[in-house]
Amino acid sequence: MSQVADLDHRHLWHPFTQQLDWCSEEPLVIERAEGTDLIDIDGRRYIDGVSSLWCNVHGHRHPLIDQAVQDQLERVAHSTMLGLTHRSAAELAARLVELAPPGLNRVFYSDSGSTATEVALKMAFQYWQQRGGQHARRTSFVCLRDAYHGDTLGAVSVGGIDTFHAAYSPLLFDAHHVDAGDTNQLECVLDFHSEGVAAVIVEPLVQGAAGILVQPPGYLRRVRELCDRHDVFLICDEVATGFGRTGTMFACEQERVAPDFLCLGKGLTGGYMPLAATLATERVYEGFLGAPADGRTFFHGHTFTGSPLACAAALANLEAFEAESTLLRLQPKIRLLGELLGGVAAMPEVSEVRGRGFMAGIDLGEHHASVRLGHRVAMEARRHGAIVRPLGDVIVLMPPLSITKADLRRLVDIVAASIEAAFAGAYGDVAAIEALTEPDTQELEIPRAA
Ligand SMILES: Cc1ncc(COP(=O)(O)O)c(C=O)c1O
Repeated sequence: MSQVADLDHRHLWHPFTQQLDWCSEEPLVIERAEGTDLIDIDGRRYIDGVSSLWCNVHGHRHPLIDQAVQDQLERVAHSTMLGLTHRSAAELAARLVELAPPGLNRVFYSDSGSTATEVALKMAFQYWQQRGGQHARRTSFVCLRDAYHGDTLGAVSVGGIDTFHAAYSPLLFDAHHVDAGDTNQLECVLDFHSEGVAAVIVEPLVQGAAGILVQPPGYLRRVRELCDRHDVFLICDEVATGFGRTGTMFACEQERVAPDFLCLGKGLTGGYMPLAATLATERVYEGFLGAPADGRTFFHGHTFTGSPLACAAALANLEAFEAESTLLRLQPKIRLLGELLGGVAAMPEVSEVRGRGFMAGIDLGEHHASVRLGHRVAMEARRHGAIVRPLGDVIVLMPPLSITKADLRRLVDIVAASIEAAFAGAYGDVAAIEALTEPDTQELEIPRAA
């Protein structure tokens, strides 16, 4: 075992990881990266099939972003946003406002997707408190079943993934959970409770951590209309879907929806640095204005909020989108991914393939947790030169937007072969395994096998 692995096993505690399992296997130690490849300490290359947890956009070691971070280092690595400001933060804010749906004029920085949503929830709550009177009764939130908005307690309160969230239930505030895609349910909840609701929070178009669940067309638009009708804020959490993931810069654009809050993270810096942003409308912002003694200040901020290094990386990320026509060049790759996944959907081991743009989930159906089928697939894929991380038994594919068509083919080939091998390893003869359900597809326009 390498020295790194040994130190890791003795001292580290990994996120979302059962350490007993972790310490029973030799960890893969990544030393460097190039483009869409991660490279381990023995020089082996792996396609980064999940964009280093859904955040890498233009590949690793991108010259524009590397240079921007180096240039920023020569000026200042860090200074606070509390009481001071700096060029990268101000320029990035202006750029984000330009790119975001109309009306989102104010940018509040934090440092992770969880804090971006936490900030939106607190702002929405405080806004109504400050409006006073009847409005102060707007203290609750509506969220989607199976939602994931991060791991801080506010974000967990509007989350709905039992495996991650149930243990903390005594610590959480109540929220109304509605089924994604069902506007009638949302309408009922808002009709009944609207005077007590501060905001509706959604992951627009695709619920990522729930297993890449795709919402029906028109759903987000309808959610916006219902929020408007009840004067309830709409928070769109685009931490996962933002920065091109669904094929447009932001998922909301596809339904011509402008939320009251837009939460950004992950791809904001091209996947380089911890930075997040909560964009809000001028209406929200104005609700916080007053004399210091009025108590309308938003008392929230982290030490590394608006980190100059991270903001410099984010500016370069946005520059790369333009310089490389990233979104334009992504479209044929989205079509290719759909075609390739058509083949995967027809495999007897696969129960459903879902996705939108460059977010895809290959659902292997219901299996006993002890089989750890998703994990087996990931380990097989690793042996063949690709890194994927499953969500239970859903294999997630979310490569960097910059991946070449050849590597995209190779990634899907590796995953398909790994699914076969994992089934064989878990159950024996693959041919004997009955397909668990009819293969089905959603949204990706996956051509069905003849
Ligand atoms: C939709 C969504 N919101 C929030 C988060 C939390 O982001 P972070 O892990 O940066 O805290 C995630 C992370 O996967 C996410 O997918």
